[in-house]
Amino acid sequence: MSRIKIFDTTLRDGEQSPGVNLNKLEKLEIAKQLERLGVDIMEAGFPASSEGDFEAVKLIADTIKDTSVTGLSRTVKSDIDTAWEALKGAAEPRLHLFLATSPIHMEYKLKMTPEQVVEQSVNMVSYARKRFPQVEWSAEDATRSDWDFLAKIIEKVINAGATVINLPDTTGYTTPAEYGKMFRYMRETVPNIHKVDLSCHCHNDLGMAVANSISAVENGVTQVEGTINGIGERAGNVALEEVAIALKIRSDFYPYETSLKLNEIKRSSDLISKLTGMHVQANKAVIGRNAYAHESGIHQDGVLKNPETYEIITPELVGVSSNTLFLGKHSGRHAFKDKVKEFGIELTDEQIKEAFKHFKKLTDHKKEVTDDDIYTIVMEIKTDA
Ligand code: KIV
Ligand code: ZN
Repeated sequence: MSRIKIFDTTLRDGEQSPGVNLNKLEKLEIAKQLERLGVDIMEAGFPASSEGDFEAVKLIADTIKDTSVTGLSRTVKSDIDTAWEALKGAAEPRLHLFLATSPIHMEYKLKMTPEQVVEQSVNMVSYARKRFPQVEWSAEDATRSDWDFLAKIIEKVINAGATVINLPDTTGYTTPAEYGKMFRYMRETVPNIHKVDLSCHCHNDLGMAVANSISAVENGVTQVEGTINGIGERAGNVALEEVAIALKIRSDFYPYETSLKLNEIKRSSDLISKLTGMHVQANKAVIGRNAYAHESGIHQDGVLKNPETYEIITPELVGVSSNTLFLGKHSGRHAFKDKVKEFGIELTDEQIKEAFKHFKKLTDHKKEVTDDDIYTIVMEIKTDA
């Protein structure tokens, strides 16, 4: 099994979700949970972007000792100096430099020539390496960049001292086959690429972020970047819990492992959802409220006989206490009987039949039948007897 490093950017790219604004104590609380979750690297923020972010990154770097802490920086000396002040107390100070390499970004956003982008990247990587033992360089908008230009600049920034090369799908534009091919091309073309960790960073604009990240892993990437709950700019970043669970559940197919303590996933997801105010959609993979809930009678009957009939992930694996049998209009008598048993109420077969009839009637009018509704029906039948 090869080890894939998990780089969490919930506190930086995740915080760039519209409407999310965490204060430094909230960030620290999340950082502590990310440490418990076992991420290899956490990106705590962008120190030069604001005084608040500087302070948050500094507090996290000074506190978190079991996880490598990094911060984002533009390829300018003042950003790097500010990042050093924030990160110098970290167990292993690490800097994340980025500069765009796609024609559209270089021409319209940066107003720089490709040669200037190479020169600035090389100079700033070597400047950063004077202090930081670990420097990651990201080619922003890599997936819309020219591959030969990318190969050339990657070789140069590695020679300048970069220890990690990240090729982000900044706009969520790539496909699994294309992204995998791009990493394979770089590994076959860049002579010194074996000296660094290769990293992927996917956004979810086309809903392919998990598939793209896994394709990158299959093509030699040793680090996956993403966020918990998939929060982030626009449609978000790749959801790290989905990547980790996909690798785990299909380990027959994917010979890779991560350091994540999977049973801390639910706690991490809940905390981040609470502090960011970004709710997790009910049907979200791995962690949504309905991910371990069954409503139809046929499914409920199967799960009661053997959960593996309809569950490929056990809820306990991700820290969810148990599955739930959701009682609605598609539910059958088995699950209903089970619920009555849970209440500790004894009914005869005839009474169960009668109560189930009342329950079914109610489901025609009410979207969500609660435990209280069922309790009331059952008690009415019981006391009528
Ligand atoms: O999506 C992106 O390109 C980024 C970079 C700053 C790494 O978040
Ligand atoms: Zn990003």
